[in-house]
Amino acid sequence: MQIPFVNLQRQHQPFISELQDLVSELLATNMVMGGKSVRKFEAEFASYIGVNYALSCANATDALEVVLRAWEIKAGDEVIVPANGWMSAAEAVLLVGATPVFIDNKPNGYGLDEELIEDKVNDCTKAIIPIHLYGDPVDISKVSKISERFGLKVLEDCAQAHGASVEGKKVGSWGQAGIFSFYPTKNLGALGDGGMIVTSDKSLADKCIAIANHGQSKPDRHHLLGRNSRMDALQAKILSLKLPYLDQWNNRRRQIANYYLKSWADLPVVLPSSTDNSVWHLFVLRVDRREKVIAELSKKGVATKVHYPTPVSQQPIFEKYSKSEAFPNAEQHAPQLLSIPVYPELSDSEVEYIARTVKSVIEAVEGHQ
Ligand SMILES: Cc1ncc(COP(=O)(O)O)c(C=O)c1O
Repeated sequence: MQIPFVNLQRQHQPFISELQDLVSELLATNMVMGGKSVRKFEAEFASYIGVNYALSCANATDALEVVLRAWEIKAGDEVIVPANGWMSAAEAVLLVGATPVFIDNKPNGYGLDEELIEDKVNDCTKAIIPIHLYGDPVDISKVSKISERFGLKVLEDCAQAHGASVEGKKVGSWGQAGIFSFYPTKNLGALGDGGMIVTSDKSLADKCIAIANHGQSKPDRHHLLGRNSRMDALQAKILSLKLPYLDQWNNRRRQIANYYLKSWADLPVVLPSSTDNSVWHLFVLRVDRREKVIAELSKKGVATKVHYPTPVSQQPIFEKYSKSEAFPNAEQHAPQLLSIPVYPELSDSEVEYIARTVKSVIEAVEGHQ
């Protein structure tokens, strides 16, 4: 059996004729950027997340930068970001001229350790960007309370967590703002790039719209230093088509993840200690002889990936900002992280094959009987 890490062809198969119709619809109009389809998807997404405004961008990295610019975060300011995760959050902080301040993850989890936030706060700290990494929400209630105490803004990075909730409230609706990515492999993915800012703050929403549109606050009036970051109508139409399936896809991800957790409970690996709130964008376990396990799984047709081989704090561009500080959990976990396919389009027999194959490979490689 050959199992790819993602299978977008299979995801799109049931929609082929609708997707073709969308392209035909666009070919019959002049409105291929912005317009009604984009406004429609923004309204649907805002309602799904439970916020007043959803503002589309070209991608989630832009979305992060646009919000930080709208908050006027600049040189001399500090923003707290996780050491473990994808680099967009720390990158956006640098793009606005501010300083990223890294924070370690928990010994048994992959999201930032809320207990470490307080020690990083000083007079320059303006905001925090928690990442709901791998689809598993951080303790956002705690992050929000700590941030409120110190007057920090919270920008939730939900690029991997579409549809995840905490205490019945969707991620993205907890902070003053949240961002999402619609990169094709995300839990809700486009057929190209796309991003979204969500917020219930009207003045922030107005400013973000202007910044993402060359700083234009009304026609022919460019009051702010902006940029160009927009979603095209085709991506918006595709995302509107897929959004009603998101919860069902997330439930299938949960079902697969629970099957893996049960199947591998006795293996000499560290299984994800994800919460019930996770939407399992990725299933990441930790194993000692990772490269050997990857090679053996590949021989048996199971594709894997590593998210991420190097902590963000150790990337050359950020070394100066991590000030040679140690992030013991992020650093210890990085060489062990291994992502196993968990997408909703996997058939039961593929899930069973993955469960059996991972078990036998790890038992053989780790010498466990
Ligand atoms: C956690 C996280 N944040 C931000 C991004 C950036 O998303 P985009 O590729 O849409 O810029 C990604 C993309 O992989 C991500 O995983």
